[in-house]
Amino acid sequence: MPPSSIVPQTQTANPEQDGAASPLLVRACRGEQLARPPVWMMRQAGRYMPEYQAIRARADFLTACKTPDIAAEISLQPYHAFGMDAVIMFSDILMPPEAMGLEVVFGNGQAGSAGPHFTRAVRTEEDVKRLVIPDPVEKTGFVMNLLRQLREALKDSPETALIGFAGAPWTLAAYMVEGGGSRHFRHLRSMMWQAPDLLHSLLDKTAQTVILYLNAQIEAGAQVIQLFDTWAGILSEAEYRCFVLPYHQQILNALNRQHTPVILYVNHSRGLLPLMKEAGPDVVSVDAATTLSDARRILGRDMVLQGNLEPTALFLPQETLGPMVQQMLQEGGQTGYVFNLGHGILPETPVDTVRFVVDLVKQSARA
Ligand code: CP3
Repeated sequence: MPPSSIVPQTQTANPEQDGAASPLLVRACRGEQLARPPVWMMRQAGRYMPEYQAIRARADFLTACKTPDIAAEISLQPYHAFGMDAVIMFSDILMPPEAMGLEVVFGNGQAGSAGPHFTRAVRTEEDVKRLVIPDPVEKTGFVMNLLRQLREALKDSPETALIGFAGAPWTLAAYMVEGGGSRHFRHLRSMMWQAPDLLHSLLDKTAQTVILYLNAQIEAGAQVIQLFDTWAGILSEAEYRCFVLPYHQQILNALNRQHTPVILYVNHSRGLLPLMKEAGPDVVSVDAATTLSDARRILGRDMVLQGNLEPTALFLPQETLGPMVQQMLQEGGQTGYVFNLGHGILPETPVDTVRFVVDLVKQSARA
């Protein structure tokens, strides 16, 4: 059997009335009966791919994000290399805060370089007041142009979904208040305890920005949206209920979701899964610390799950990794499941292992 990853599948088995089949991922997000789960990987475009490294050698990260031709090429690399069932636009969650008025700096991506950060942190009432709610087309038109370009590139592959995304308010506020990545979130927690109203005003401004930004992405052609609230998992249930859940609800209620399912991701989400469900996403993306069976027990059979291979498992030899993937396929099932990692793929990941996993998922199709 030829490796399915070499030739991305483009057949349209069940064309809908409008003439085009819905992508496999969209059907999975809706809980439709399928022969196998779709597969893609968080951060699938990135430094572990030599093709990505080659582009980054001549363009810095921000230039790559803001130049649709370059960003489109990078977005499509994992689709061409492995036959992923979805293309996620190449961008970063820190684009909207930049559009809100902050200056963002990305390191050169070399080991040991400082991660992305802002030249000024958001700490005071004045800082929050100064932030604008940007017009997404005016300030981040490069993202919408990228999505349009990607839909055009994928027009003969109706089975492949185009994913747009945004960071959720808590995670974006974490970057804005800390001024960059953080281990302890000292400033953010201090604002939460000492100036909760100020933090709420920042979260609300960010939520309004995210709503406009994601609806513009949907209009530009995103077929699935993933909302990343990576750092919401540092909170207790009570804190999450106060500083995270209302903003998820605000966003999920305001998005044009008729044709566009929304996946919600939180890292370290184990005790928070019921609260993720309460926000009302189409799909809950689970990290590797909860088994898919446990997630099903907690969330109920009707909730579509995405996840949750631990990214470091991609460094294992195939004879160890293979049974782990089979176990996930067993627990996830053909329907109501999207195969993915529990968090973003790591920069040193061997490409052959990525191909091996994608092929295993595709070969699981019931005849
Ligand atoms: O999934 C994809 O392939 C789409 C692209 C994507 C990137 N970042 C590209 C990127 C997505 C969806 C993100 C989301 C993102 N960015 C999150 C949420 C998801 C998660 O992983 O938790 C967060 C917290 C960020 C913030 C961010 N941007 C960090 C922490 C870093 C440095 C990480 C690192 O590996 O150095 C970035 C930079 C970044 N964003 C890179 C890529 C490919 C590395 C850029 C480079 O050096 O070439």
